[in-house]
Amino acid sequence: MENFTYCTPTRYVFGRGAELKAGEEAADIGMKKVLVVYGGGSAVRSGLLKKVTDSLIEAGIAVTELGGVQPNPVDTLVYEGIDICRREGIDSLVAVGGGSVIDTAKAIALGVPYEGDFWDFFAGKLPATVALPIGVVLTIPAAGSEGSGNSVITKTDGMRKISLRTETALRPKWALLNPELTFTLPPFQTACGIADMMAHIMERYFSTTPDVEITDRVAEGVLKAIIEEAPKVMADPCNYQARANIMWSGTLAHNGICGTGRREDWTSHGMEHEISALYGVAHGAGLAVVFPAWMSYMADHQPEKIAQYGRRVFGVESHSDSVAAHEAVDCLKGFFSSLGLPITFAELGVPDPDIATLVKKLHENKGEAIGGYRTLKAADTEEIYRRAL
Ligand code: NZQ
Ligand code: ZN
Repeated sequence: MENFTYCTPTRYVFGRGAELKAGEEAADIGMKKVLVVYGGGSAVRSGLLKKVTDSLIEAGIAVTELGGVQPNPVDTLVYEGIDICRREGIDSLVAVGGGSVIDTAKAIALGVPYEGDFWDFFAGKLPATVALPIGVVLTIPAAGSEGSGNSVITKTDGMRKISLRTETALRPKWALLNPELTFTLPPFQTACGIADMMAHIMERYFSTTPDVEITDRVAEGVLKAIIEEAPKVMADPCNYQARANIMWSGTLAHNGICGTGRREDWTSHGMEHEISALYGVAHGAGLAVVFPAWMSYMADHQPEKIAQYGRRVFGVESHSDSVAAHEAVDCLKGFFSSLGLPITFAELGVPDPDIATLVKKLHENKGEAIGGYRTLKAADTEEIYRRAL
């Protein structure tokens, strides 16, 4: 096990009615003038936005709203949000939505106290250490942004989708998680969220660091719980207990607990971000296509951990690592398909992907050699994209 520092300072309030605590939680940490950020309308239609703003106003907090965040969020709304915050003297943000909304709020929070262009942080020009405080009301368990220190934004100029990872600066101060808020999710979005949270665990699980039994077992446990609960939410979207288990899994998948003490991989995420930047697909759907392709490449070249995953998570019995690893890939593909997710580019709605551009942008954005489990160069990532055809 490697040395590590694990800090997850977010305060989670979980359960029915959690969203009604927004005012209390905000007031407790001194939020006074809040920008409430939301998406394309689901939070308005369900009445959630009004409940949250009412709660804030009742707690004596001034509220300004900024809606219209689109999935795979772009920089333009971030600039708009930064302008609003500066003009109105906003001191904090509340995101009502999923990863796209939360990440937009985080980028705004980072940009307001910084005199230069907020993109400087995403371009890696300087470390992100100071941001306005953020609260979250989560409506989709998926990206895990409610507990992560990350924000993923696409720069419209060049469609560069970049993930900024901070230790603590971008972790929300509080996150309100009511599983009932996820009853209205379309089945496809539910499934995409499940693929994404599984991917967050697997990016951490596929590691060459030895002697991380505790972290392996935590990761396997969360994965097995997701695999057991997922069919229940797909069959009955209003099954509170199953929704609750999936919601908390999504947070644990990405708040760092499944990655302590080891080197992580993150190739599949890098490869997927290029797909969703270029084709606008849902992040989880892109992962359902690219992650099994990455695993199949590893089953040929470095099967040990893929085989362990197959045996411990899906109960694969083969003795040979190579065979077990390929069986693990089949199990994962079968599971994703059972949720109605695509597992090939064609099923994703991209029958003829521009692989040369995907590979070029991937290595421009992430470096010539990428990956923690096995180092990959352009010829390798091209082969992985091809395996997903
Ligand atoms: O915009 P509205 O109308 O709210 O609709 C959204 C959106 O169309 C809808 N939705 C959300 N909650 C709903 C609902 N519809 C009905 N009922 C509800 N309760 O779902 C759609 C997808 O929302 P989005 O926020 O885009 O989903 P997700 O949470 O999957 O976020 C995806 C984004 O997060 C990034 C992804 O790359 C992508 O840009 N990620 C962020 C990470 C992070 N910050 O740590 C890590 C992830 O790996 C990921 O890269
Ligand atoms: Zn993800």
